[in-house]
Amino acid sequence: MMAQHIPAPSPSRWSPESWRGRPIWQAPVYPDGTRLAAVEQRLTRYPPLVFAGEARRLRAALGEAASGRAFVLQGGDCAESFADFTANVIRDTFRVLLQMAVVLTFGARVPVVKLGRMAGQYAKPRSSDAETQDGVTLPSYRGDIVNGPDFTAEARIPDPARMEAGYFQSAGTLNLLRAFASGGYADLHQVHRWNLDFVERSPLAERYRDLAARIDETLGFMAACGMTSATTPQIRETDFYTSHEALLLPYEQALTRIDSTTGDWYACSAHFLWIGDRTRQPDGAHVEFLRGVKNPIGLKVGPSTAPDELLRLIETLNPEAVPGRLTLISRMGAEKVAAKLPPLVRAVRASGIPVLWISDPMHGNTITTASRLKTRRFDAILAEVRGFFDIHEAEGTWPGGVHVEMTGQNVTECIGGAHQLTEADLGVRYETFCDPRLNAGQSLELAFLLAAELHARRTAPDPTATAAQ
Ligand code: PEP
Ligand code: CO
Repeated sequence: MMAQHIPAPSPSRWSPESWRGRPIWQAPVYPDGTRLAAVEQRLTRYPPLVFAGEARRLRAALGEAASGRAFVLQGGDCAESFADFTANVIRDTFRVLLQMAVVLTFGARVPVVKLGRMAGQYAKPRSSDAETQDGVTLPSYRGDIVNGPDFTAEARIPDPARMEAGYFQSAGTLNLLRAFASGGYADLHQVHRWNLDFVERSPLAERYRDLAARIDETLGFMAACGMTSATTPQIRETDFYTSHEALLLPYEQALTRIDSTTGDWYACSAHFLWIGDRTRQPDGAHVEFLRGVKNPIGLKVGPSTAPDELLRLIETLNPEAVPGRLTLISRMGAEKVAAKLPPLVRAVRASGIPVLWISDPMHGNTITTASRLKTRRFDAILAEVRGFFDIHEAEGTWPGGVHVEMTGQNVTECIGGAHQLTEADLGVRYETFCDPRLNAGQSLELAFLLAAELHARRTAPDPTATAAQ
């Protein structure tokens, strides 16, 4: 334990509503409390979206990642939108995540845990409560589960009916994801074939061809040994989990259930929930809510996090030191990661509480262009993940995964990448309701570059072994 560390006060009794007694940030103010209560009441009776056993299975998989035996790929929209609730949008994001997972599995030489920012990623924290356009000031858009994106006074009023719409759209999305994951769409051979296609069309084809050929060879060898889609469910099917930021607590509370097999409380809106960088106050409502549910949970760790504050948070959120319970999602920015992350990694390691570290290279690298569009540079994203890998290598800890904002659509929101999107291209297909996402090609490119990097690090000769010869 670190000397300067102030122990957390012993926690008071938790209940699904105990967060209501805590200070809360980023909470919408609903004008009609009676309508809000009626919606919460109905949601409380609706079936859970996930089953506690699935959340436990994910926790075990994340525990493997915390111990260096798996790698996590978490990705999807910054904000899912009600308007994009279509089979094609869901399918395309799912497909690109699977493609990325195949190349990362090969690079990291360990199983990849697939976690979508999907089927419930509807609530957004904002840096300002209000937005001004041409002299008119209105409340900020807070995600489709709260209010509407249109810049009108009416659209921006928080409407509790949107929680119910969010529930049903999450259910529809999850249903399709489950069908894809187990119904044959996720077959490893098919996913790899899509990657070969991508490599052929990429300006960096030369660079990727070797990796793609090796995966091809491996699959061919496995098939020759009798491991085919017909004989091996691991080739035909995949585990795919859902996650979102647990920001809108009235919604989360209404979907919290006691698991009848263990008697424990589970948040049943998704398998994995995280606390955002703006709502991680140790005494705040969001930390209070998530400390009491048994799901695997995440905590965003930004550059303003102090080591003693982080220690207090990990003690509150993982008091029983369960591997896989807590994922720390580092989002420092490419320029700050080398200075900010190492003291936190060291403090956490010294505490003895097991955590899984993953890198979100998106949220610390957002810039605004002269034409006032938010964007991210592909190079900065890649640089932050590389910095994250370097730090864990130096500290002897495992860089357990990546968390990315991406879409399967061919949008133009982030600049750079093999197709060298420029600021001037951003207007062509800039469709995000919130932060800029990697498009399908940029996402795959990132996966290939990271896989090559992981592969090189994992197969590099051990320097201590060489020295001893
Ligand atoms: C997000 O993940 O969309 C987000 C708002 O991130 P952060 O809390 O890290 O800023
Ligand atoms: Co975002």
